[in-house]
Amino acid sequence: MKIAMLSDLHDGAAEAYLPERLTKASLHDSLQDCRGCPLWEHATQAVPGEGRKSSRVMLVGEQPGDREDIDGRPFVGPAGRLLDEALEQAGIDRESAFVTNAVKHFKWEPRGKRRLHQKPNRSEVEACGPWLAGEIEYVRPDFLVLLGSTAAQAVLGSDVRVTRIRGEVLTDTPLAAHVMATVHPSSILRTRDGDRHDAMEAFVDDLRQVARLVSASRSR
Ligand code: URA
Ligand code: SF4
Repeated sequence: MKIAMLSDLHDGAAEAYLPERLTKASLHDSLQDCRGCPLWEHATQAVPGEGRKSSRVMLVGEQPGDREDIDGRPFVGPAGRLLDEALEQAGIDRESAFVTNAVKHFKWEPRGKRRLHQKPNRSEVEACGPWLAGEIEYVRPDFLVLLGSTAAQAVLGSDVRVTRIRGEVLTDTPLAAHVMATVHPSSILRTRDGDRHDAMEAFVDDLRQVARLVSASRSR
């Protein structure tokens, strides 16, 4: 497992669209003009990360979903509600976390009247890396939490399997003092009824470790 350096993430085609000075406004406005891969074409808008510059924790999902594409905000649909619930159970205030995605435009295919989520491919994830790099530079989080395989592979390499490393805290990485991969909240929504409670508990346990380490490093 090779943890990306910021310079690796900056290698993507979106680099040409990154603003020179990273501010909340510049990260939002320049993102809307990104043509680093074809995904902008069928999306309503690009969805930047959301949260305070002072956030200690950065949560990275896959890409905006249907709701996020319309609202322009990350994790505001069903997966977002589950994430909110898990964060609350773990004692992490969503307001104190920076929430973003590995890919900033919604990839979908029509299915009747609905827009069905499609997983971004490796070249789209690579193309979009500079935006994640820019957000990491802007926030400088202590803890980077990778939600699901797209985020994990974007940062830890394409051979990473979340099932193998979930909940493992990687320390002193080039990107943040702590990095952890865990499942994507959508995977819990897809878990069948009988197993969903356990899946949620395991996810909350991973987030509790984040809460604990963040409060420990704060009191140092
Ligand atoms: N899934 C994600 O990965 N990100 C979102 O913002 C919403 C759903
Ligand atoms: Fe740019 Fe990322 Fe959107 Fe592709 S998905 S156009 S790289 S912002």
